[in-house]
Amino acid sequence: MCGIFGAVAAKPVADLLVEGLNRLEYRGYDSAGIVTLEDGELKRVCAVGKVDALRRRISTGGPLGQIGIAHTRWATHGAPSEHNSHPHIAPGVAVVHNGIVENHTELRSALKTQGCTFTSETDTEVIPWMISRSIAAGAAPARAMQEISERIEGSYAIGVLTQQDPDVIHARRAGSPLVAAFGDSGGFIASDVAALAGMAKEAVFLEDGDRAEIARDRVTIHDSTGRIAHRRIVRVDESFETLDRGGFAHFMLKEINEQPTVAAAVGARYAPSDAFDEIMVDFRRLDRVKLIACGSSYYACLVARRWLAEVAGLEADVELASEYRYAPVIAHTGNEVAIFLSQSGETADTLACLDKAKSLRIATIGVVNQMMSTLGREADYALPLLAGTEVGVASTKAFLAQLLVMARLVAHIGAMRGHRAAAERFREGLDRVPGWIAATLHNEAAIISVAEHFLHAKSAVFVARGGLYPLALEGALKLKEISYIHAEGFAAGELKHGPIALIDHTTPVVALAPSGELFSKVASNVREIAARGGRITVLGDRRAILSLSDVASTALTIPSCDDLIQPIVAAIPLQLLSYHVAVARGSDVDRPRNLAKSVTVE
Ligand code: F6R
Repeated sequence: MCGIFGAVAAKPVADLLVEGLNRLEYRGYDSAGIVTLEDGELKRVCAVGKVDALRRRISTGGPLGQIGIAHTRWATHGAPSEHNSHPHIAPGVAVVHNGIVENHTELRSALKTQGCTFTSETDTEVIPWMISRSIAAGAAPARAMQEISERIEGSYAIGVLTQQDPDVIHARRAGSPLVAAFGDSGGFIASDVAALAGMAKEAVFLEDGDRAEIARDRVTIHDSTGRIAHRRIVRVDESFETLDRGGFAHFMLKEINEQPTVAAAVGARYAPSDAFDEIMVDFRRLDRVKLIACGSSYYACLVARRWLAEVAGLEADVELASEYRYAPVIAHTGNEVAIFLSQSGETADTLACLDKAKSLRIATIGVVNQMMSTLGREADYALPLLAGTEVGVASTKAFLAQLLVMARLVAHIGAMRGHRAAAERFREGLDRVPGWIAATLHNEAAIISVAEHFLHAKSAVFVARGGLYPLALEGALKLKEISYIHAEGFAAGELKHGPIALIDHTTPVVALAPSGELFSKVASNVREIAARGGRITVLGDRRAILSLSDVASTALTIPSCDDLIQPIVAAIPLQLLSYHVAVARGSDVDRPRNLAKSVTVE
């Protein structure tokens, strides 16, 4: 989602700003822009589309200002267009903004009656106008920043440039992440500390309500009460991890193929008996677990719930963060832990739930890929996913790592609670996962021919039961997000209660039906679908595929493995299927339309 970058230096900053935006590209965006302050004038350059389009405009105009702010915008209020791109300007003030101003309609009406004119449809544009009017009324920029925070409702991070304070970037964080940093080359702000690698030496993560002033040689932070705040200083990496596709056609394909390595890394870190010793939660006494996340991470939670019940004899509630954050609070008794799954660690809804759990004094564990993210820093305990940077917007290796870290945690909890045999059986299966994933990846050629059956489909259905049901949801999500084919996942037993009406000879159906406890149940559902003309692809081991070969037209093969392990291995062919359908349909696989890698607004 939106990315903020700002720099103040002893040389023109336009190149630094564009480089900063380049590094924030992974968040997803549809336009980009910068403002620099040059000879007392705010100069704005924006472009719709990629940062490269902005770079081309800048190289032919060359702003020379030594202070500037920059932004990649993921459209929320108003279409992607130059006039909606940030920075937004009012007399003497430019603003970049991440988040949402919820009361922008009222603020805009009030400002209009005072003669302010608006050039965009964004919620953001009220901010420069409010600051500009405060300064015009005599307030110093710092005071104006304080005043707007009293008027804006919503969560946001902003960077502000004023003619009044030509050597200072003003910034404020209220809900959305923002980092202030400094080094030999100057002062900076950024949405993500990784974007500052090699530019700044030290950084501070602003806390909610913090206001910062960033000059070339100093950063000053005030907390929400206006007092000077001393935040923990962290060192910034010296080099930016440049990412390449390593010979693969897309990052997504590279990341799918990295999964045996990720699985091995997770095993090496979490298999040892002391792997969870840092977590000071008495798992033996737990009454309940809450698992909270969004999207694919939520589906990983659904799998983990089943494991917790089967391996650790523990009930879990799985919550969609976007719903749970507004759910009524029910006073709980007993021992509870809340586990948050988020590859980015910046998902706004998940973070709101983290705050909620903390306010209820529930112990919190973050399972997160970016340890420097808000979730990584603010959960009581953080478990790294060890997936490495995931560039593809559709999660693959991070989803797998979520399953694997949760599996190891569940095995640990199971053993602590006296379910030693179940925990041991689970661990033995987990040890074999890297090999099983590698074997599944070898079936890619066969998966490409299955993908051909989906190319012209308008709608696709995924069905499964038990521990694989969340994978039906995940398979459908993966297909829709990158191929734009409408797809739904259903519990196979639910089909008769409505969804079977969707089935006809134009509907490809993926039935997750490997041998195991529920095979005969799913097999019956598969036959019901076949009887209605559905075009069935069976995902299963060879034995299961053979026994459904009279009704299934194609198959996705996985190795024969324990029921508990099947959800992990099944993820691989589902990812490859979606990938090859999307490639054949010509989608932008790594950056699918309308989606962002890091969902920092609710
Ligand atoms: C889908 C996908 C998303 C994320 C969701 C939560 O492929 O990646 O559904 O799982 O946006 O993101 P995180 O895990 O960063 O909280």
